[in-house]
Amino acid sequence: MTVHPEIGEILVQSDDLRHRVRELGRQISDDYEGRPILLVGVLKGAFFFLADLMRHIEPDCEVDFMAVSSYGSSTESSGVVRILKDLEAPIEGRDVLIVEDIVDSGLTLSYLMKNLGAREPASLEVCALLTKPARFKVEPDIKYVGFEIADRFVVGYGLDHNQRLRNLPYVAALKQ
Ligand code: IMP
Ligand code: MG
Repeated sequence: MTVHPEIGEILVQSDDLRHRVRELGRQISDDYEGRPILLVGVLKGAFFFLADLMRHIEPDCEVDFMAVSSYGSSTESSGVVRILKDLEAPIEGRDVLIVEDIVDSGLTLSYLMKNLGAREPASLEVCALLTKPARFKVEPDIKYVGFEIADRFVVGYGLDHNQRLRNLPYVAALKQ
């Protein structure tokens, strides 16, 4: 496979993504047995992960999406979050699972948890493909984590840099 000129080290190969996503799907299926799940995908970055994860979830599930933008530079979030697209339906009494691509400072997720928590779901959990523990500014409460990665800006498998490079089938660090 040709490596893109803007791409440095590959941090998670596509085989490893596939295996881990299947494991997460099985774990979620066990935990929610008999309870319908509402998956809330956070656009745009989570759409590859969500689509692959959902194929391995056995309980009844529905999907809805939110789009948020956090003010800040292209590689650093400020924690001030704006909702660009809200859920289509109320979540009161539902078992909600937020599906995120990556948790970096944790500020976006903490805003989302507060915002969705206030709508009184029966339960609210998080499944994040990637986390960068070294960068947490708030300790996020994430039940399902795909991979913990180092403090690098990464692209691919849905993650972008200035809207590009989402189409790479692996997760790689951006060249400095
Ligand atoms: P946080 O608020 O700092 O946790 O960042 C949240 C959002 O910033 C994530 O949901 C991503 O959309 C984006 N983000 C953070 N780190 C990266 C990265 O390394 N690559 C691509 N997007 C990222
Ligand atoms: Mg995101």
